Order: sequence, then structure tokens, then C-alpha cells
Amino acid sequence: MTLEQEIGRRRTFAIISHPDAGKTTLTEKFLLYGGAINTAGSVKGKATAKHAVSDWMEIEKQRGISVTSSVLQFEYEGYCINILDTPGHQDFSEDTYRTLMAADSAVMVIDGSKGVEAQTRKLFKVCVMRHIPIFTFINKMDRDALDTFDLLDDIEKNLGIETCPVNWPIGSGKDFKGIYDRKTRNVVQYSDTLKGTKEGHETDISIDDGDAVLAAIGEDAKDKLESEIELLDGASAEFDLDAVRKGQLTPVFFGSALQNFGVEIFLQAFLRMATPPTPRVSDKGLVDPVKDGFSAFVFKIQANMNKAHRDRIAFMRICSGRYEAGMEVRHVQSGRVQRLQQPQQLMASSRKILDEAFAGDIIGVFDPGIYSIGDTLCLPKDNFRYAGIPTFAPEHFARVRQVDTMKRDQFVKGIRQIAQEGAIQVFQEYNTGMEEIIAGVVGVLQFDVLKFRLKNEYNVDIRLEELPYEHIRWIVNRDEVDVKKIVGTTDMKLVKDMHDNPLLLFVNEWSPQMVLERNKGLQLANFSRNDEFQADLT
Ligand code: G4P
Repeated sequence: MTLEQEIGRRRTFAIISHPDAGKTTLTEKFLLYGGAINTAGSVKGKATAKHAVSDWMEIEKQRGISVTSSVLQFEYEGYCINILDTPGHQDFSEDTYRTLMAADSAVMVIDGSKGVEAQTRKLFKVCVMRHIPIFTFINKMDRDALDTFDLLDDIEKNLGIETCPVNWPIGSGKDFKGIYDRKTRNVVQYSDTLKGTKEGHETDISIDDGDAVLAAIGEDAKDKLESEIELLDGASAEFDLDAVRKGQLTPVFFGSALQNFGVEIFLQAFLRMATPPTPRVSDKGLVDPVKDGFSAFVFKIQANMNKAHRDRIAFMRICSGRYEAGMEVRHVQSGRVQRLQQPQQLMASSRKILDEAFAGDIIGVFDPGIYSIGDTLCLPKDNFRYAGIPTFAPEHFARVRQVDTMKRDQFVKGIRQIAQEGAIQVFQEYNTGMEEIIAGVVGVLQFDVLKFRLKNEYNVDIRLEELPYEHIRWIVNRDEVDVKKIVGTTDMKLVKDMHDNPLLLFVNEWSPQMVLERNKGLQLANFSRNDEFQADLT
């Protein structure tokens, strides 16, 4: 296969959803089709207290949830598919957002009985920021669902994206009869008898074959379907692949992941509509995935992948060219030319040392402590950087104190490393030392992770005191103002970040504006000077 063919058959996407919408179940069905796993339930079985294959950290095992993200690769009908799994718990972390930076498209799973939920909204905003295509799968149609038009309306209003139903559900819950495919004009009849390894339908009936449709779904469903189709054809946005690829229009599919209905139809349509890796922006212009040589960027750093080895893995997304075992690459941020150490692909809980990988693939590389989130790797002859990964504004803050002050060095080392991996952001008050810091996180679970890791890896006990702050503003013109003389609000706290940038924390949303009014000339921003940009998703 040529390089162009290898890259052209790659589809790299993230699955986003609110917890419990069915992301894990859908992923599992995808893997079944790809032959990557053999039995349903092998990805996650909460009931039997088994754990997702992506669970690595001890804390996840204890709590039965997935804190980290994982990558799954499988083949299906000639495509090579990389699924970036995102943590499925309410308390997600910055990693969840960063994972989206490595994906070329996103699959959004929505529970048909609930519509758009909070977490979907946040993750969705990151997709919009990147203009990546978003494909919607409305799940759990075997349960009573909301009105289909209302569901579409909900997506459009809540997320600000146009919808185009590719298929249409015929009833829901115990009256679920199947879906109608708008392009082929066929009714695909629902059956839950084939759940498991096969798609749960066998017969497609043309909508023009009135008698057969009537026999299959009954008179009421037929009448309702016909009037809905009429309405739909008049009202919904035209299918426009270009708009889909620009992230302006989301194709919508219906089905039941659990009953394995509508899943393969979705997968096939998705693979056709989604793009292979596209050019990425660097400081030296666009980098073409096929024409340019190897390049990648680090989007995630994971410590303790394997407790026995105490290792740290940097995950990188290959953006262009081909990686070959033993090749030398330039780590742009340090200027060093080196061989990647033990590059591996992660499939479920196993790791496989790689001989080669292509643009679109994710590889994990042993990290002796040199990589940071957002770093670029390229060929030794090249020297460009990819646009940095945004820092996402923390939404929860806690004061962190070490219990035993004799262990200051371990505490500082641990905090620095965990911050470098991007699991937490660290702030300090002006009049205290490093033995007392303020940690900022996107999801509160990260506080537990911090506590657990400091204890397990650095043997340091900490006490956490949650703080009420929710809003963060960096001081832009720090050289022009005396930060200690800022006239603040009662809910304001002045701190500095790890790069000594001054910033303000607030409890109330409206306080930053009041502080601006009280301090003429002061400039505030919700991003720091070190970052290319920062995303405030609140
Ligand atoms: P998540 O990863 O998005 O958090 O969701 P997950 O797939 O774990 O699914 C959450 C629950 O919803 C699971 O039930 C799952 O079986 C169920 N589910 C997923 N898809 C469908 C569907 O299409 N129809 C119906 N009726 N249910 C669905 P659970 O009881 O919480 O867990 P489990 O014991 O079945 O694992």
C-alpha cells in the first residue's frame, strides 16, 4: 500500500457524550464489527465489576470509573480506525478536552430520552472551536424517547449547529419499529433477536411498497412515519457534505447500541463521510499529512501506565508522514534529535511495540521526563511547531497543604511533575512558599487523583481544602500595574501561576467586570501569556 493509501484509509475520532448515554456500549459494538474483540461485555461490565479496558490507574479500579483516556485501533472494511476514548465520568479532566485536539472528527452520543446534557455541551464547544466534523448518534431508541423533532431542535438550540437526519426513527420504546433511511428510502426493521455480534436487522423494505411497510410496522406507525417524512423533507437542512466536514452541520442517526441496531449503518455512513487526516497548522504554514515527512505532537502524558515499571508515557498524534521503528526525530522544544523510546500502540489493555505508524495514528512513547503537552516532533531536517494545545480554565480550586513538612522536596517534585503532565494547574499566593499551593482542576475528581498519586508515587500526604473560586483571570499588563495595589472585590484572590504570571480568582461571575471598573487601565484575560490561547468553557 502506498503512503497516500495508508493515510487515506485512516479515520481518527473521539466519542463524546454525557455519562451513561451509551458511549462504552457503542464503542464495544464498533470493536465487535472490527473483530477487535469477540464478545459483547468485554469492554466494560459494570455489573460484574469488571473495568473498562482503558482503566489503568489504581484509583480507577477502586472507583470503577475511567479517569484516563485510551486509544483503540481496529480495521473495518479496509479502513483503519482510531477511536479516542474520553473519560466517561462526570468528573472529567483537561485530558478529555485535549483528546479532542488529537481527533479529526467526533461522534456525539445522545440518550434519546434525555437530549443534550451538560457534559456533551462542554465537549461539543471544543469540537466547534476546532471546526471538526461532528456525527450524532441518538441512542437508546429501544427505550421511550423524546419527540424526534424536539430532539433535533434541542441539538440546534443548545449547541448551535444545524442537524440533518440521515435516518429517522419509527417509534421508540416498546413501539420501536426501526428506522427509515432517507437516502435509500428504505424502512430498516428493528429486531432485538440478533443482538450481540450482529446488527439487529435483516430486511429492508422500500417505503413505496405500501403493503410490505404496513405489514412490517402497522398502520399507526406507517401513518405517523409518512407525515413525519413529509414534514422533514420540507423543514430540515439539506445534506451538505462540505458543511459536515466544516463542522457546521451534524448528520444525525438513530439506534440502540445495546440492542446493536443502527450501529453498523451508522459506522458505515460515518466512515464514508468523515475525512482522513487533513493538513494541520504549524508556525511554518500548513503541514500536509501525505506530502510532508513524519511529524507529531504530544497531547497527553500519562504516568504509571504500568505500576511495575513506574513509567511515563507521552501520547502523540502523528500528523504527517510515516513513523518507522528506529528512525531519528527532532523534539522541537528541546532541539534534541533522538530515537523515540519504545514506541507502542495501545490496544485495550495490551501494548504492542510498533514497526510503523502513519498520520492519523496515536503512538505512546516512553518519556524520561522531557516531553510536555503540546510539544512537536518532526524529522531532524525540519524545525516547525504545531499550534499549542489550549489550557482549559480550571473550574475548581483547592488549597493543598502537605501534612509532614519534612517532605517538602518530594512534595514540590510531585506537584511539579503532575502539573507538567497537565493533570492539575498550580497557583501560589504571593506570601507563601511552595509548601502551600492552590491547585486548579477542570473536574473535581482530579483532586482525588492528586492526593492518591502524591501518596503512592511520592509518599507525601496532603490535606485539601476546597475553595469557592470558579472564575479565573490573568493580568495582561502586569508590567504596567502594581498587582498588589489592585482594588479588588471581597471575593477576589490574587495569586500567581507556575510561570510567575499574576492572576485573579473570583467566586462571582460579575466580579472581574467590577474590578476592571475600579482599576482604570487594568487588562484582564481568561488566558495566560504563556499560552497560545485558553479556552473558557463555562
Ligand atoms: P457511557 O459509557 O456513556 O457512560 O454509557 P454505557 O455504555 O456504560 O451505558 C450506560 C447504561 O446504558 C448501561 O446500563 C448500558 O447497558 C445502557 N445502554 C447503552 N446503550 C443502550 C441502548 O441502546 N438501550 C438501552 N436500553 N440501554 C442502553 P447499566 O445498567 O448502567 O450498565 P450495564 O450493567 O448494562 O453495564
